[in-house]
Amino acid sequence: MASPFRTIWPTSDRYVEVIDQRFLPHEWVVVKLHTYQEAETAIKDMIVRGAPLIGATAAYGIYLAARTCVEENHDRSFMDQAFEALANSRPTAVNLFWALNRMKERLEVAENLVETAWNEAQAIVEEDVETCRNIGVHGLPIIEALAAKKPGQRINILTHCNAGMLGCIEWGTVTSPIYQAKQKGLDVHVYVDETRPRNQGANLTAYELTRHGIPHTLIVDNAGGHLMQHGMVDMVIVGTDRTTRHGDVANKIGTYLKALAAHDNKIPFYVALPSTTLDLSVRDGLKEIPIEERNQDEVRYVIGKSAAGAIEPVLICPETTQAVNHGFDVTPARLVTGLITERGVCAPNEAAILAMFGDLEK
Ligand code: MRU
Repeated sequence: MASPFRTIWPTSDRYVEVIDQRFLPHEWVVVKLHTYQEAETAIKDMIVRGAPLIGATAAYGIYLAARTCVEENHDRSFMDQAFEALANSRPTAVNLFWALNRMKERLEVAENLVETAWNEAQAIVEEDVETCRNIGVHGLPIIEALAAKKPGQRINILTHCNAGMLGCIEWGTVTSPIYQAKQKGLDVHVYVDETRPRNQGANLTAYELTRHGIPHTLIVDNAGGHLMQHGMVDMVIVGTDRTTRHGDVANKIGTYLKALAAHDNKIPFYVALPSTTLDLSVRDGLKEIPIEERNQDEVRYVIGKSAAGAIEPVLICPETTQAVNHGFDVTPARLVTGLITERGVCAPNEAAILAMFGDLEK
C-alpha cells in the first residue's frame, strides 16, 4: 500500500515542509521550516515527533543552517551552534544524534556545504522509507504465523503510542507489517492505546489506521492487561526511541507495563525498529538512556476538540495539583520476544544484535 503522503518533504524553493502533528486528527496543518531554529522548535514542541522523523527533521535543520550560513556569510561557528541546538531539542530518541553525526561527518569533507547537506538530508529520508518497508517484509511472517494458528479468525495486535508513518516518513515501523498483512488479505485488527499524556495513540495512530482502512479500537492505557487476560490480544508490537546492544528498549511511557502484562499472559511482545534506533554504545538501558521529562501541564491538561469545534486544553485536576511527566520508560530485554528490523527479526540479546548489526559499530 503506497502511502498517499509523507511526513516531511522538500519544497520547490528548497525549504522543507512538515505536518503539524499537534492538530491531528482534527486539522491538517502544514508548517514550512526556513531556519535551523524553526526545525529545532518543530522537534522541541512536537510539531514533528517519532524517532525516525525527529532524525530526518534534524538533518534538514542542518541543511537549513548550511543555507543560512552561506547566504549570510557566517563563519563555521554558526554550524556548531546549529548542531548544538538541534542536539538539545529532545534527549531520548537516538535517531536525532545518529542523523546529526551523519550530517557532521559528511559536511566535514564537503566542498559545497549547502548542496552536500541537501543531498544527505534527502538520502536519510529515502533510506528511512526503504528501511520501514523492509521492517514490514520481516514482520509480516510473524503475523502470518499467528493467522495460520487461528484460521478464519481475526488477528488482534495491541500497540502503544504512534510508531506509524507519522513517526517516520512512510510505512512506519509498527504499522509496516500491519499494512503489508492487510495487503495480503489478512484480517488484522489493532487495539490502540490512547497513550497519555499527549495521546499519540488516540490522535495519530487511530488517524493513520483510519486512513489506511485498518480496523482498530481505541482503548484506555490501563485496559491492555485486561484484554490480554481474556485472550483478546494475539501479539503486541511497539516502536522504540533507543534500543541498547543488550536489547533493552526505551519507548513511550507505559510500554514497560504492556510488556509485563504480555509476559504474564505469554503473549508475544515485539519491537519494530530501524537500525538507526540502535545505540550500540549503551549496555544498560535503565541506567544509561536519558529519559525526557516534559512540562507537567501535558499531564494536568488534555487537549481535544470541543463540541463548538475549537481545539483546546481542558484542566483535569485541581488547579494546585502538581504532576510529573516522564516521556519514556525502559523495557528490559528479558520481556521482549524479538526485534523486527530491516535486516530481519533479531533476538534481544548482545550476541544476536552484534551478529546482525556489528558492522554498524564505530
Ligand atoms: O514522544 P514521541 O511521540 O516522539 O514518542 C514516540 C514513540 O515513543 C515511538 O514509539 C518511537 O519514537 C518510534 S516511532 C517509529
